[in-house]
Amino acid sequence: MIAIYPGSFDPITLGHLDLIERATRLFNRVIVAVLRNPNKNPLFTVEQRLQQISSATSHLPSVEVDSFDGLTVNYAQMRQAGVLLRGLRAVSDFEIELQMAHTNKTLSTQVETVFLATSNEHSFLSSSVVKEIARFGGSVDHLVPPHIAMDIYQCYSQIPQFPNIPTPRE
Ligand code: PNS
Repeated sequence: MIAIYPGSFDPITLGHLDLIERATRLFNRVIVAVLRNPNKNPLFTVEQRLQQISSATSHLPSVEVDSFDGLTVNYAQMRQAGVLLRGLRAVSDFEIELQMAHTNKTLSTQVETVFLATSNEHSFLSSSVVKEIARFGGSVDHLVPPHIAMDIYQCYSQIPQFPNIPTPRE
């Protein structure tokens, strides 16, 4: 069974990666698919995101990284994938994700949406949260892989003001 994990991944976070790792235990192949979305103003180009995801998943041989445009179900059918994978962090995600799953079902009965609950420690984590923290000079070292944290700091042209390592008290 092939699963597509579609998303913006601007940038990919440790929450996404946790989901991908767990999905590799459930599916023969997991295709992480970055949407080419002309309506969004992303921090990273699609090519940068593909590169970031590829290096973050290089230890997972059953993971492929790709980009697509148009409808996700069309892409899934083109790749002969039977599953669309989405993560659920909280009830607030559920409403929009259920709507998306229902919409996709009206577009194709061949593709099933499978939800995986995110791990507890990542239940607050999103790409937007990462960008907001970094924009205001905070450290995102605990939220994304190291090479992506560097890319983010470079984008905002600043080093973190609040490093993650606690300083010992006198
Ligand atoms: O990471 P995101 O931004 O939450 O991902 C959303 C995504 C890319 C999965 C969703 O917007 C999508 O599937 N877009 C492609 C267009 C589409 O298929 N629309 C119909 C389903 S609502």
